[in-house]
Amino acid sequence: MFDSEVRTLCVVGAQWGDEGKGKLVDVIAERADWVVRYQGGANAGHTVHLGGRQFVLHQIPSGILHPGVRCAIGNGVVLDPDTLFTEIDELVREGVDVEGRLYVSDRAHLVLPYHKLLDCESAASRAIGTTGRGIGPAYEDKVARRGIRVQDLRHVDRLRELVQGGIEHANVQLAASGSDKRANAEDTVALLERLAPRLLVLAEDVGLAVHRARLAGAAVLLEGAQGSLLDVDHGTYPFVTSSSTTSGGAATGAGLAPTSIDAVLGVVKAYTTRVGNGPLPTEAEPAVAEEIRKLGGEFGATTGRPRRCGWFDAVVVRYAVRVNGLTGLAVTKLDVLDTFATIPVCVGYTLDGEELDTMPADGESIARVRAVYEQLPGWEKPTSAVRRLADLPPAARAYLDRLQDLARCPMRYVSVGTRRDQIIEVP
Ligand code: IMP
Repeated sequence: MFDSEVRTLCVVGAQWGDEGKGKLVDVIAERADWVVRYQGGANAGHTVHLGGRQFVLHQIPSGILHPGVRCAIGNGVVLDPDTLFTEIDELVREGVDVEGRLYVSDRAHLVLPYHKLLDCESAASRAIGTTGRGIGPAYEDKVARRGIRVQDLRHVDRLRELVQGGIEHANVQLAASGSDKRANAEDTVALLERLAPRLLVLAEDVGLAVHRARLAGAAVLLEGAQGSLLDVDHGTYPFVTSSSTTSGGAATGAGLAPTSIDAVLGVVKAYTTRVGNGPLPTEAEPAVAEEIRKLGGEFGATTGRPRRCGWFDAVVVRYAVRVNGLTGLAVTKLDVLDTFATIPVCVGYTLDGEELDTMPADGESIARVRAVYEQLPGWEKPTSAVRRLADLPPAARAYLDRLQDLARCPMRYVSVGTRRDQIIEVP
C-alpha cells in the first residue's frame, strides 16, 4: 500500500464497524513506520492471538505487535487509562516490547469512571445500544469544554478543579436520569494521581511527532475505529458513535493536515452487519441473519453482543466512498458467503415508491426505505484457501466485480478468512 506517492494512508470502516479493519491494519502496519489511532476509544476491539492466547486490544493500535513500528493514540481519541495500562501489562507479559514506541497525545481527553457510570445509567445510551464504555459522555465533556486532557495530569491543582467540575456535572446528570448512583471526586483524583506518572511518560505532541516523521519520509497509517455509518455527522444519527470516524476526522484526530493524507482505504464486509440499535435497510430475515451470524462468527469483540446481519448494501458503500474520498476498497469475509446458492445485493432504495440514489439524512426515512435487490448466483465452493484472485470460483469473481462496480471504487484487497495470510492483494 505504501509507495513513493502514498506515504500517509488512512484506513476506515465503510459500513457500521466490525468490517475487519483490524486485520487489514495489522497486515499493512508491517510496512508502516507509524500507526496512529485518531478517534473513538475503548468501544473498539480487535482480537489478537499472542503466545497461544487470544485477547482483545481496545485502546492500543494492533501495530504494536510489529517490532519497530511506532504506535500513537491521537488527540481525537478519548483515552481510557485503565484499559490502556491493562493492555500494556498484558502485552509486556507476552514479551511484546512496548517501551519507547507507544505515544499518547497530550491533547487526548480522558475517559474516567464517571463517564462510564453515566453511559451505563443513561436511558438515552440504552436506546442507542452503546458499548457502555463512557464514549459519549467523554466526548460531551470535551465539546462542552469541561473535559480532562492527558496534559492536565501535569498540574495537580488544576486537575482537582477540573475533576470537581466534571463530577458535579455528572452527578446532576445522574440525578436527572433517576439513578441513585453518584460519582466521587476524591476517588477520581486518587485514580488520576496513581496513573499520572505512567501516563505522562507516554505523553507526546503526537501531531508534531508524526509531522516530523513524515518530513523524514516515514510511512504513516491512520487507523479508524467503528465505521462511516456510525460517524457523528455522516452516520445514521442519532444511532451513531460520538466521534468523526470518516477520513476528515483522521486529519483532525491525528493532528495532521488534511492535505497530508495520500490515500484512503475503505474496508467493507462482503455482506453487512451492525451492532446496537438503528436502521439497517438490508437486515435479513431472522433465520438467514442467524445463518450469516453463525458462519461469520458475528458477535461483538467489545461487548459479545450478537451482530445484526444482512446483505451487501451498495447505497451505504457508495455513500462511504463519497464522504471519505475512498481510493480503494478491501472486501472482507468473502468466505462467509461460500454456501449460499444465491446472494442478494442491494443496488438502490425506494421510499414511498420513489427511487433514492443516496442516503437520506432523516433516520426515520432510512428506517422506512425498501432495499432493491439484485440476486447474484452463489459459488457454493470453499474460498478460504484461495490466495490469487484468478483462483476464485468465477461466480465469486463476478460477485466481487459487481460490488466494485456498484461501489464505484477499485478493489485492492479481498479477505477469505480470519488469519493474516488469508488476504488476496488485487494486482
Ligand atoms: P458508543 O460508541 O459506545 O457510544 O456506541 C454508539 C453506537 O456505536 C452503538 O450502536 C454501538 O454498538 C456502536 N459501536 C461503537 N463501537 C463500535 C465498534 O467498534 N463496532 C461496531 N459498533 C460499534
